[in-house]
Amino acid sequence: PAPSELPLSALEFWALPVEEREATFAALRAREHPAFFSEIPVPFVRPGKGFYALVRHADVSEASRHPDVFSSEPSATSIPDFPAYMERFFGSLINLDDPRHAKIRRIVSRAFTPKMLAKTEDDIRRRAARIVDELVETGPGDFVSKVAVRLPVEVICDMLGIPEHYHARVVRRTNVILGNSDPEYTGVTPGAEMSRVAAGRALLKIMWAARDLHRLAARLGRERMKNPTGDLTSALVTANVDGEHLTTRELGSFFLLLVVAGNETTRTALSHALKLFTDFPDQRAVLLEDFEGRIGGAVEEIVRYSTPVIFMRRNLTRDHEMNGHTYKAGDKVLLFYNSANRDETVFDHPDVFDITRDSNPHVGFGGPGPHFCLGANLARREITVMLRELFTRLPDIRADGEPDRLLSGFINGYKRLPCTFTGP
Ligand code: HEM
Repeated sequence: PAPSELPLSALEFWALPVEEREATFAALRAREHPAFFSEIPVPFVRPGKGFYALVRHADVSEASRHPDVFSSEPSATSIPDFPAYMERFFGSLINLDDPRHAKIRRIVSRAFTPKMLAKTEDDIRRRAARIVDELVETGPGDFVSKVAVRLPVEVICDMLGIPEHYHARVVRRTNVILGNSDPEYTGVTPGAEMSRVAAGRALLKIMWAARDLHRLAARLGRERMKNPTGDLTSALVTANVDGEHLTTRELGSFFLLLVVAGNETTRTALSHALKLFTDFPDQRAVLLEDFEGRIGGAVEEIVRYSTPVIFMRRNLTRDHEMNGHTYKAGDKVLLFYNSANRDETVFDHPDVFDITRDSNPHVGFGGPGPHFCLGANLARREITVMLRELFTRLPDIRADGEPDRLLSGFINGYKRLPCTFTGP
């Protein structure tokens, strides 16, 4: 397909068919100078001063590798700078630089090491088996709500000690926070014609969802302070950083980050996996012929090809030359992981879904650097266990029609994906 005429800053751009979107990024990669976008595709918040799009694998990697020049403060997750009232909800490690970032990350990082995660393998397997049992009992339907949503939210909530009766609420809140540009979650269609009242209402909804998670964190935190249980919330409230505990606000922001990042992204990858193994039956045959031998490569290729998190932002702390362009102190750059993951100078046939790639240095979990996805090993494990369970029990499970895509320039998500199977 031909590149789109729409700028990356138009929300309509993100609703285009993925092939058309990726053709635009291919054209941007071929440009000599980086493209600058003065408008910002973020609804409800005043536009900032625009951004440069980093679209090549080498540039995304360089920016990730040099956090002293490419800072995550004041924000890495949103394009405009956070207004103060938003910052108090979202100012966690993803939006911090070292040394504070490293100290905060260390509070929980042990729980995400392969060794610690190996201990949770049986638990994840039991949960996946139960989810597939229920799918078999209830029959074909929406794969996202019946399968993909469930495992990641159960696992991260369990790690944090969030009781089961809260899980559905956590999903609703994180949908509003991450799906904030989709009218289904905020009730408002973003765009120039959106009224200020409607925008204000949507913003309130987002803040209310964030505040609800902060309150849950505070409540659980008070309980764990009295009776630590060894879960992540206990680690967060008892942590000592430079001789001090985290403030209630820091606790809430970190807790919110973990529940958002821990469920929305892996759900997306699982949904893409079913669609990809439906659209590419040859790849499904390769996987099923030697599941244990192929699954590692398959998970990396699912994350490369679908790139659940589309971008992160960095902020220039000083003038810096990269690839023939001088970025100025104060410039904002967006690291487009989807584009780096299709860079033809790094990947052979980048538009082909191929689980047998010898080399797959994708940046779907972020580039090399201190912010590399904390949950990458957990996500890999969840995807592996769930696909093993699904394909063993329901070898002919497939997507049955087109997904209902999330309208977002940040998450490449599916809201619904019909699936079918003939039974175990
Ligand atoms: C950071 C992707 C699953 C927790 C990130 C980043 C990306 C990413 C792109 C930003 C890296 C950067 O700024 O350089 C993904 C994808 C996932 C996934 C594609 C699933 C397929 C998870 C899970 C958790 C998690 C299951 C569990 C808690 C985090 C955290 C950060 C992060 C806490 C911030 C790390 C930091 O700033 O130090 N992830 N993620 N992610 N992710 Fe994930």
